Amino acid sequence: MKVIFVLLTIAITAFPGLAANAKAGEEIYVRACKACHGADGHGNEVIAKALSVTQPYLGSVSDEAVKNAVINGKGKMKAISSVEGGEIRDLIAFIHTFPKK
Ligand code: HEC
Repeated sequence: MKVIFVLLTIAITAFPGLAANAKAGEEIYVRACKACHGADGHGNEVIAKALSVTQPYLGSVSDEAVKNAVINGKGKMKAISSVEGGEIRDLIAFIHTFPKK
């Protein structure tokens, strides 16, 4: 188990492309999520009111919920087809930079 972890760490250090990239994730967030979820993940009141929903704070949702919302959509949010594959991993890495509440 430990050996696998060490190998993984070496692989990620040697090939930064393998590690989720929060910086790339930020660009994806700004492009695809920010208009509705706000720069800080708290949501856009105008959108929330217009759709009669309460948007969750993204710093408090699970990785699975993010993945699912992007791929399948969730309630009033449609799937975001412009974000796919490894971009979702980067996006989640960026969302992890929001303070937990
Ligand atoms: C057009 C506006 C819009 C865009 C763009 C958008 N969202 Fe949403 N999102 C919403 C709304 C509205 C909700 C609440 C849906 C509901 O409760 O019916 C929501 C809910 C969510 C949730 C909560 C899911 C859950 O299980 O409760 C997550 C996570 C989420 N969005 C992530 C994202 C991410 C990541 C992106 C960018 C890739 C994104 N959203 C882009 C409007 C948007």
